[in-house]
Amino acid sequence: MRKDLISMEDLEKNEIQEYLTMAEKVEAMPLEERVKLLPGRIMAAMFFEPSTRTRLSFESAMHRLGGSVIGFAAKDATSVAKGESFTDTIHTVESYSDILVIRHPGEGTARLAAQESYLPVINAGDGANQHPTQTLLDLYTIRKDLGKIEGLKVAFVGDLKYSRTVHSLIRALMKFNVTDFTLVAPETLRLPEYFMHSDEPGRFRFHETERIEVAIQECDVLYMTRIQRERFPDLVEYEKVKDSYVLTAEMLSEAKDHLRVLHPLPRVNEIAYDVDNTKFAGYFPQARNGVIMRQAILLKHLGVTL
Ligand code: NCD
Repeated sequence: MRKDLISMEDLEKNEIQEYLTMAEKVEAMPLEERVKLLPGRIMAAMFFEPSTRTRLSFESAMHRLGGSVIGFAAKDATSVAKGESFTDTIHTVESYSDILVIRHPGEGTARLAAQESYLPVINAGDGANQHPTQTLLDLYTIRKDLGKIEGLKVAFVGDLKYSRTVHSLIRALMKFNVTDFTLVAPETLRLPEYFMHSDEPGRFRFHETERIEVAIQECDVLYMTRIQRERFPDLVEYEKVKDSYVLTAEMLSEAKDHLRVLHPLPRVNEIAYDVDNTKFAGYFPQARNGVIMRQAILLKHLGVTL
């Protein structure tokens, strides 16, 4: 059993399936049973970057398992603002809790924390690198909504260069025999080449286009992303691409009947509000699945079996 959850690159397919099975078991359990599972256990939520869903769904997940939560939602409220180092912060908080959930703008920080700490460390997003708990809930949502993951055609739209949610999910989908990807991004925000490489040349097809219409017609899952202002070294570049793609209800008239539009959220304006009332909108149920998957993750990494 792995101590930490840091990157989808680390996980074999069967390990990913264990999280999905655990989440199914959690969801089937009545709330009054779930709340007996982690009494007296403490989760530390250490958020060095803004968050609504990831932090609050982790906190809700822990409370609803009967555990409790300590933590911070911004580094300004901690001794980091006084100059304390990241590793000293980890060594302090580890003596107050049983599991560390960490979000940080620096790539590789979750791995560093995992090496430093004897506690389980869960990566809640490290810069533009990885966001494995989001990927697990995305996979859970896709399987629930479409009945399977294998063989689906998946399109990613928006900021494919900096989106850690995309980087994590593509890697996981490749392990689930998803071989057909459509990538819709402005030239400056294309998916880094590295993600398209595999040990089996020719097995995976990446169709890169700047036209979202192509993705809408062909795909089973349309994974929208926000253009992430905070990741741009130069804000002039952000201004040039910020409104590149805006999905509207009308554009979806060409979609397959079962198409699901997913988004890790927050949206800025890449999905028009009129999409919310269509049968294609899957992003709010996706966010709700966050609590279930994060309960599964907390249980697994705190050694509880169901
Ligand atoms: C994403 C993130 O933080 O990477 N949000 C999330 O966790 N649901 C995506 C984003 O911020 O655009």
